[in-house]
Amino acid sequence: MAEYLAEAERKGLSEIGFADHFPLEMLGCTPENQVSMRADELEEYLADVRAIRDRAAIPVRLGIEVDYLPGCEAITGELLAAYSFDYVIGSIHFLDNWDFTHPGQVERYKMADIDALYEEYFTAVGQLAESGLFDIIGHLDVVKKFAFFPQRSWDSLMRKTCATLSGSGICVELNTSGWRAPVNEAYPSEAFLKLCREMQIPVTLGSDAHCPQDVGRDLNRARTMLHSLGFTEVAAFSRRKQTMRPL
Ligand SMILES: [Fe+2]
Repeated sequence: MAEYLAEAERKGLSEIGFADHFPLEMLGCTPENQVSMRADELEEYLADVRAIRDRAAIPVRLGIEVDYLPGCEAITGELLAAYSFDYVIGSIHFLDNWDFTHPGQVERYKMADIDALYEEYFTAVGQLAESGLFDIIGHLDVVKKFAFFPQRSWDSLMRKTCATLSGSGICVELNTSGWRAPVNEAYPSEAFLKLCREMQIPVTLGSDAHCPQDVGRDLNRARTMLHSLGFTEVAAFSRRKQTMRPL
């Protein structure tokens, strides 16, 4: 964490948020995974972020990324209420026990009905937003990560998804890690962001760094893209309250 913070300060970021993956085993539904923290690591994570916050020159936000697991809403809500996070990112990494975001599980795309997969994924995104459990939807169109695209146009799916997001009050993360993935596009795409702008859905910035060098990576590129689409503000979070800041 010290290295992540040092990189943020070196790049001149105005603040940094940590958002490790909430232990899946605590949510009661346990898809096999290799990414989330173990339950016995959570307290240490919280303590580490608080410790680094006390000696940082820039604000450090305590965030968490939580899988939205349909059917586990009640336990998710109870657990989240027990901690004082600055922001909670809700994400979907699993469909039918398949971690479709994991490079080790890409083969399954070749057997999947991609049109149906996109439908299923964005239906889950809508449910995530409507659950009211999360402040931010993480990597909104991550289902495109390995560049498997539907045959049919997904314009109406995007529009329907944004209408649901807009009604729910959730904020969309503009996540730059898509530029480092096979798809080589930000999450979400420019088309999605255009709709966000049209429907006044707030956007926040994230680099989804899994190593210190990636802290703040491509944030300027993201800002330029938002400017070109007419955005003037981005959302920031403290104690689960959203405020808008000049872009
Ligand atoms: Fe994620």
